[in-house]
Amino acid sequence: MGLFPFDDAACSALAEAHGTPLFAYRGATAETQFKRLREALPKGVRLAYAVKANPHPELLKRFASLGASFDCASIGELRGVKELSLPPGRIFFAGPGKRREELELALQMSVRIQAEGWEDLARLDEMSKSDVSMNLRVHPATGAEEGNRIIGGVGPSAFGIDEEQLPEILERAKSLRRVRIRGLHVFAASNQRDAEKLLATHRMVLEMAARLHREHRLELEQIDLGGGLGVAYSEDQTELDVKALGQGLLQLRHEHSWFKGELILEPGRYLSASCGIYLVRVIRIKESRGTRFAILEGGINHLLRPLLTGEPFPVRAVGKPGPMAHTTLAGPLCTSLDRLGDVDLPIDLAPGDLLAFGHTGAYGFSEGMTHFLSHPIPAEIWVT
Ligand SMILES: Cc1ncc(COP(=O)(O)O)c(C=O)c1O
Repeated sequence: MGLFPFDDAACSALAEAHGTPLFAYRGATAETQFKRLREALPKGVRLAYAVKANPHPELLKRFASLGASFDCASIGELRGVKELSLPPGRIFFAGPGKRREELELALQMSVRIQAEGWEDLARLDEMSKSDVSMNLRVHPATGAEEGNRIIGGVGPSAFGIDEEQLPEILERAKSLRRVRIRGLHVFAASNQRDAEKLLATHRMVLEMAARLHREHRLELEQIDLGGGLGVAYSEDQTELDVKALGQGLLQLRHEHSWFKGELILEPGRYLSASCGIYLVRVIRIKESRGTRFAILEGGINHLLRPLLTGEPFPVRAVGKPGPMAHTTLAGPLCTSLDRLGDVDLPIDLAPGDLLAFGHTGAYGFSEGMTHFLSHPIPAEIWVT
């Protein structure tokens, strides 16, 4: 997977034609990435694209044409996916606080809803006119290690049902008239590039499912293992080995032969990051007390992720080879939070130069704070 979907000539042409700042997505790259993962996964593993990573309608259409299912987390995402006119079974809906109108639309679209608490089960039971199958989103009691963070377990969480509360929820669920619990959902990783660590969380989920099946006679049609498949944001990071992930999942299926249903993976980042680029021009170069700043047309209003994670998107100066100098990237916003990272860029970088940020097809435009400081909203261009 390359860091940039467009070469220098294409970046210059896009900037010339559409102005900057600009997001551009290359459909062919998204398709290659989807197929890379699909082909690495065994049969019986459904691939659901997490729309939050990038809800661009053309991207959704492209993934739908390749057989994708979709994980939605808001009424807007549900409406976007509704446009695809998919058959039942290909849409999921998760979220810790679902509004009634969202549940109504999800029911109308025959979406499989991930219940995040008793309230979701009870409300669906009251709203549904016919029998409805739901999954339980579980917040596991044991943690999965991800970098220096432990996620998916241990501490308190707004997401899902604490694992230790499951016996009580399953008991109460016997009183439901319409709702049947037929699946589990656990989202316990984020940007994880180590297949073994992903598989460790998947193993934990299947063991939990086996316990629930054994002890509570829970009949499961599906087990949703969440997303969290990572991408390399720089040349020196190793890519996720999706073949190893696929083989590990196959092995887990053999070990859990009691489970006859389907496994679901719902990655966002892995599928859409590499198809996107963000193009922005340098406004000023400023030296301040030994630090060289490049002040850009856009900052955290368009790319929030560097602020949230401390990790920059990969960046290059279009049409300008090295030698390089250490540069702090700042946006135009009147806040010292507006930084896109400390990177190496050409020593002769100058106002008007074009920068290209790669891997911005996921959690780029969709995660930016586009209204903050009221700068113009960047265009999003789809290139087939
Ligand atoms: C429920 C759920 N599924 C899937 C995803 C996608 O995660 P990723 O883009 O890391 O694969 C998220 C991300 O927040 C999520 O909350």
